[in-house]
Amino acid sequence: MAGPIHHVLGIETSCDETSAAVVRDGRTVLSNVVSSQTDLHARFRGVVPEIAARAHVERVVPVVEEALDRARLRYADLDAVAVTSGPGLVGSLVVGVMAAKSLAMCLDRPLAAVDHIEAHAVSGILALSPQDSPPWPAIALVVSGGHTSLYLVRSPLEIKLLGQTLDDAAGEAFDKVAAILELGYPGGPLIDRLAQEGDSAAINFPRMRVESPVDFSFSGLKTAVLYKVYGSGSKYGTVSHLSHSEKADVAASFQAAVVEPLVERTLLAARSNHVDAVLVGGGVAANRALRAALQTACAAAGLRLILTPTEFCTDNAAMVAYMGYERLLAGLRDGLDIEVRSGLRRPEPLSGGRSTT
Ligand code: KG4
Ligand code: ZN
Repeated sequence: MAGPIHHVLGIETSCDETSAAVVRDGRTVLSNVVSSQTDLHARFRGVVPEIAARAHVERVVPVVEEALDRARLRYADLDAVAVTSGPGLVGSLVVGVMAAKSLAMCLDRPLAAVDHIEAHAVSGILALSPQDSPPWPAIALVVSGGHTSLYLVRSPLEIKLLGQTLDDAAGEAFDKVAAILELGYPGGPLIDRLAQEGDSAAINFPRMRVESPVDFSFSGLKTAVLYKVYGSGSKYGTVSHLSHSEKADVAASFQAAVVEPLVERTLLAARSNHVDAVLVGGGVAANRALRAALQTACAAAGLRLILTPTEFCTDNAAMVAYMGYERLLAGLRDGLDIEVRSGLRRPEPLSGGRSTT
């Protein structure tokens, strides 16, 4: 059935969140249901792919129906279906993609395959009202559990990778440091909370040294935290020798060492690409210190900052529905033969965007 596209159902199952959302005209989120599997994976301190895929199978249909209920719509009111097809865990992605294909086929509606990282990159749009002007071209910083990347977004359909982390993602560093401090999993929100009580200048953790101004590295920082807590050469033990306020100082100082280069390099990318707007998305974009530092820096530089609303920072289907809407609006359609993809598309650095020195 070909008709105008208003109500898009988004489905997201790339990792350990089963999510479905209904978004009207790209920006108005009518519902966004997220069923988190954190409790299933916590004792493994990371996501176990087999457990994640099974949980998606059990949850995907109830989550879609809950999204429709909350939006007060029926299946027949949907104009299109959008789904994350990668990157992510293949077994998890397949569940969402099969659900989306089945719905698109039964309802006779168009289908849009969405890139998860690109959806994070443009998720700031969900902070705007329908009347707000679009921010393109913009620099988008994606900081999540699996990715830390800078993009030049000329439009939602023209997204170029400028640079990315050479080792750990920012979220991964948060999770590992939280494990070192025995705070729990996922670590980002726990470090965020503990850091509020600490002194960010208490420990001068080394800042990353990466020659290319658009790339990142966080594995050295993680090792520096490990040595600081246990002393060099020691193994993971217990952190019972640290007081609560000492742990808070480690959390705040570590967080500052992540936030500083993220902000500096994002602003540098905005300047060197002559754009007026910055978008920030992904789980770590929920971090309060990062949000505050970006606000200060962008205000000083006269840049329009669009922070993804906190509820749409971690994995969610609303950003997928938005991205799908843009693709469909541009006339792009995906067939029932869409395939899932575990890895990133081949990086395409802009000429001059990446230093070769
Ligand atoms: O985007 P996301 O939900 O999943 C991926 O696509 O990877 O990001 C999850 C990551 C986790 O590493 C989590 O610890 C981190 O985002 N995170 C945070 C905060 N909330 C979530 N990191 C720092 N501060 C937060 N408030
Ligand atoms: Zn994500």
